[in-house]
Amino acid sequence: MDNFTYWNPTKLIFGKGQIEKLKTEIPVHGKKVLLVYGGGSVKRNGLYDQVIAQLKEIEATVVELAGVEPNPRSTTAQKGAELCKEHDIDFILAVGGGSVIDCVKAIAVAAKYDGDVWDIVTRKFIPTEALPFGTVLTLAATGSEMNSGSVITNWETKEKKGWGSPLVFPKFSILDPVNTYTVPKNQTIYGIVDMMCHVMEDYFHRSPNTPLQDKYSESLLRTVIEVGPKLVNDLENYELRETILYCGTMALNGTLRMGITGDWASHRIEHAVSAVYDIPHGGGLAILYPNWMKHVADEYITRFAQFAENVFHISSEGKTEQEVAYEGIDALRNFWNSIEAPSRLADYDIDEEFIETMAEKAADSGGIGTIKKLTKEDIIDIYRNSL
Ligand code: NZQ
Ligand code: ZN
Repeated sequence: MDNFTYWNPTKLIFGKGQIEKLKTEIPVHGKKVLLVYGGGSVKRNGLYDQVIAQLKEIEATVVELAGVEPNPRSTTAQKGAELCKEHDIDFILAVGGGSVIDCVKAIAVAAKYDGDVWDIVTRKFIPTEALPFGTVLTLAATGSEMNSGSVITNWETKEKKGWGSPLVFPKFSILDPVNTYTVPKNQTIYGIVDMMCHVMEDYFHRSPNTPLQDKYSESLLRTVIEVGPKLVNDLENYELRETILYCGTMALNGTLRMGITGDWASHRIEHAVSAVYDIPHGGGLAILYPNWMKHVADEYITRFAQFAENVFHISSEGKTEQEVAYEGIDALRNFWNSIEAPSRLADYDIDEEFIETMAEKAADSGGIGTIKKLTKEDIIDIYRNSL
């Protein structure tokens, strides 16, 4: 294992009816609340009314920021930060999916900074303080509800960047599977793909001696493979929603990656696509991830063969390691096809036009990834194979 320090202070409040905890959790931190949500799903499914009822009970002063976009914009976070300053906000509540939560993380630090939020995302300014915030999660996917990362898009420059800070762990996150019942089928599928990719980004690593981490990750993937297809056909099933919600959080709250330096190139490659074309993150990953695997598998074939055997139960009898590994990649693609995830950039009407630009943005000067350091040319190949 690599040396590591594990620290995750987010209080996870899980289960049916847990929204009631808002009235005890929020007053610990503040009373003037900025309530942040997305494009209206929370109003349509009644969650907004439940949240407002809780805030009324504690006589909180409430200011609202509605309309956070999927792939949240830096301008929206900036607007939120200004509202915090103007109204002397002392607590922020995110009600939504990863986009709303990521936006709130940016607001929390930008509220304590006089410059532009993009300085924080690009690490020109390293924040030293933040407003406290909590979340009510409505979509199982990103893990943002229990981690300290955030992904923000600058629509003007067409850049989408991840950033993080120990200051932006949520103080608490409320996860009620019922609040995910109304997530449409396509978003449910994207969430399933995203959480699987989070596990795989860390599973494909070069850190030594990680037998327990490997088994945790394989179990999570097996669970999603078993439960995901049932959920896609039964969207209001409590137990299926519950399992997938828990999987999404566990996939990226740091538990599985202790002692591991994961690869994470595919996320960079996808973010460059959604920055230009504004596509859903999980949809982009479903297209790109197997092509990343094909591009790099020969660099560490043993690990890809292990994935095939332990996650998809591919038999190794009479086969070379490479054959087993490649069957595993096909099995992943077939699984995602079976739940109707997208498989080609053409599914989003994306052609060759911006491949160079996107590859330029995704590649760092030193290359990205740990299984194989990918250059701009490698990334162009992956995009081309995904057309
Ligand atoms: O905006 P509303 O109206 O709420 O609708 C949303 C949105 O259109 C809808 N939705 C959410 N909950 C719903 C619902 N519709 C009905 N019922 C509900 N209960 O779903 C749509 C997508 O929401 P969004 O928040 O964008 O999805 P997700 O949670 O997948 O978040 C994606 C964003 O997170 C970033 C992605 O890049 C992307 O920007 N990521 C953040 C990470 C992190 N912070 O750790 C890691 C991830 O790898 C990822 O990059
Ligand atoms: Zn992701």
